[in-house]
Amino acid sequence: MGVERVQEIANFSKETIPEEFIRTTYEQPALTTVQGTVLEVPVIDLSDPDEEKVVRAIVDASSNWGMFQVVNHGIPRETVGKLKEVGKAFFELPPHEKEAYAKSPGSQSIEGYGTKLQREVEGKKAWVDHLFHKIWPPSEINYQFWPKNPPSYRKNNEEYAKHMHGVVNKLFRCLSLGLGLEGNEMKEAMGGDNMVYLLKINYYPQCPRPNLALGVPAHTDMSAITILVPNDVQGLQACKDDHWYDVEYIPNALIVHIGDQVEIVSNGKYKSVLHRAKVNKEKTRISWPVFVEPPSDLEVGPHPKLVNEANPPKFKSKKYSQYCFCKLNKTPK
Ligand code: OGA
Ligand code: NI
Repeated sequence: MGVERVQEIANFSKETIPEEFIRTTYEQPALTTVQGTVLEVPVIDLSDPDEEKVVRAIVDASSNWGMFQVVNHGIPRETVGKLKEVGKAFFELPPHEKEAYAKSPGSQSIEGYGTKLQREVEGKKAWVDHLFHKIWPPSEINYQFWPKNPPSYRKNNEEYAKHMHGVVNKLFRCLSLGLGLEGNEMKEAMGGDNMVYLLKINYYPQCPRPNLALGVPAHTDMSAITILVPNDVQGLQACKDDHWYDVEYIPNALIVHIGDQVEIVSNGKYKSVLHRAKVNKEKTRISWPVFVEPPSDLEVGPHPKLVNEANPPKFKSKKYSQYCFCKLNKTPK
């Protein structure tokens, strides 16, 4: 084992937090968030029969914010509720039961229970533990990383994965049409039906000094898109024009992030959103992002129909695995 889980640290941190969790003043959320703002991440009704209107709203949100919430998205409320119930139950198991799913230190794969993914420049730690495992396609799933306890964990996660396709297809269709491409071309550029859905559960224990720490520091997601649901504790923030804003989660909505791969394929028209997560003094925050990603050996670059002499490619084409390696190791793109 040898890794200290934040959940355990939180159990004995009643007044203060260890120094390695204290952010610089450039990052502390209380000092860097726009207060009382009127600006809000857009909310889009996916069931609106006027598709052109939905496309315009998605284009607008994806170009200006790189993030939006969708309502009437077709995933049943009970399905999301059951996903959350079993994820929470897993993190409430005693430590040794969770450690059975720990990511092994030398492993190349991201899957498993763990405490830290990215080395941070300042050497600071994030106030979070997580569990990663793929939920789609079935051929990519490693069930060894799916908790056996609670017993309905598998069924509930499979149900959520099954219901995600409708939303994912609709989002890619709108993103594609919004670039003047055929409806299927954005999805095809991401690997079509071979796209991988990687679920992460973020478990942010209550934190005695939420103003000094961060659950997740500022980053953009490497995925094509990310679809996230949180529990009822607010904490997500988005950066727009160099300012940080709270993203007020609407119950039963899904939060969509534009990831780096959609920014690349759109040749920069859509922006991958810079975002981070705060922690809470009294309550444990939990979130369930699903990273919808190209298959690892697929080469991703600006769509050929979007580049010409007047619009040269703004990004290099790269295999998705190569892109992730460069970003995680902070080597030049
Ligand atoms: C992430 C992330 C935000 C949140 O895990 O990539 O941005 O609200 N999480 O938990
Ligand atoms: Ni993220």
